[in-house]
Amino acid sequence: MKETLAALVDPAVVDRRIESMGISDLGRASIREIKKLVDDIQKESGVAFVRMEMGIPGLPAVPIGVEAQANALKNGVASLYPDIQGVPDLKKEISRFVRNFLDIGVSPEHCLPTVGSMMGSLVAMLTVNRMHAEREGTLFIDPGFPVHKQQCRLLGHEFKSFDVYDYRGPRLRNKLESILASGKVSSILYSNPNNPAWICFTEDELKIIGEMAKAHDVVVIEDLAYFGMDFRRDYSRPGQPPFQPTVARYTDNFMLLISSSKAFSYAGERIGMLVVGDQLWQRREPDLKRYFASDLLGHAILFGTMYAITAGTSHSAQYGLAAILKAVNDGKYNFVENVREYGEKARIMKRMLTENGFYLVYDRDLDEPLGDGFYFTFAYPGMSGGELLRNLICYGISAITLGITGSTRTEGIRACTSLVRRDQLPELEERVKRFHRDFSARS
Ligand SMILES: Cc1ncc(COP(=O)(O)O)c(C=O)c1O
Repeated sequence: MKETLAALVDPAVVDRRIESMGISDLGRASIREIKKLVDDIQKESGVAFVRMEMGIPGLPAVPIGVEAQANALKNGVASLYPDIQGVPDLKKEISRFVRNFLDIGVSPEHCLPTVGSMMGSLVAMLTVNRMHAEREGTLFIDPGFPVHKQQCRLLGHEFKSFDVYDYRGPRLRNKLESILASGKVSSILYSNPNNPAWICFTEDELKIIGEMAKAHDVVVIEDLAYFGMDFRRDYSRPGQPPFQPTVARYTDNFMLLISSSKAFSYAGERIGMLVVGDQLWQRREPDLKRYFASDLLGHAILFGTMYAITAGTSHSAQYGLAAILKAVNDGKYNFVENVREYGEKARIMKRMLTENGFYLVYDRDLDEPLGDGFYFTFAYPGMSGGELLRNLICYGISAITLGITGSTRTEGIRACTSLVRRDQLPELEERVKRFHRDFSARS
């Protein structure tokens, strides 16, 4: 077989490892399974992989946060329970942040710290999906982050999903209408920019989502894990347009999940933000009383859900995040500039792949090419996602398939740019070239 000539890792080793891990279909393997598989293959083969499977921030944490957090610890906050609703300084800065960068007004009272944005989505779905006894759960606009669906499963809620690839622009309206008309959906969840596809909804699309949410009284849970990272526009200047697009400008029925993991490289401290629209917070729904002491949504979120799950968010991390946000809000720290490196690497990596027989899977936002950011998606002619991943592993490259993200483009692979170092890029190019030489000769 040609593939064995230039492969860096013996394909027999790869196949044996896949089998011994009990993975029957590599196209369905989770991110953590792939990570373990590649760790093992790396150890056995001695080949240092170009690792593109996990979305770990590849940059140091913002020092302003680390310093403020260390000071808070020295000042004794470790021994004190934080209030569930968060420390006042942080709440104030979150409210300023959404005013400065989303151009929306939300009272500090309704800006809450969470243990990573993962907790925010859990809190949001757990509470919102219990507002109406006759409704069933969440609609995911896919492709998406697989863990959100796992949260829904754990909660015992139903979910629906569709791949937005074929429903961009005005077509989104009919698609949403066809699903929401059932009256069974409580919430809609998507990430924007999108993990894994890096599509970014246009203002028109967000308006459609907002209008549909209003028409069917559904809550939109908008995941802004990659806040400001559509580098085609400069969203970095506080209080000045352009602003990060958000559905919150088109409906009052919104909850925003803002992660500090990527924007501030603060993943290790597990702190994120849940921002609940002022009007939504005040909603009274009698069905909430089945689970909560109050029928007031905001009260249910705080004293029903958050209290029961974690009883608050790490005290010191709240001070760290408050300091970062204050610097960002005051225009003293440009967080977008600091993460622009991800986009630069994506541009170079996409070029390497497309010059060597690969093609991009999700490649356009309607009339514009996709931006270069944290993730991108690609495929190779004639291979399924599972086959492509197996073959890439033989060439010392790891990633995940789109099959696990709700994408209908099962031939695709998601690459994450963050862990690929600049000094690895020539190696990546060399491997991609070898791959193409072997596989183009095969066909
Ligand atoms: C779309 C999306 N949402 C949420 C998260 C998790 O964020 P956090 O680390 O704040 O829990 C990620 C992390 O990769 C993500 O990609």
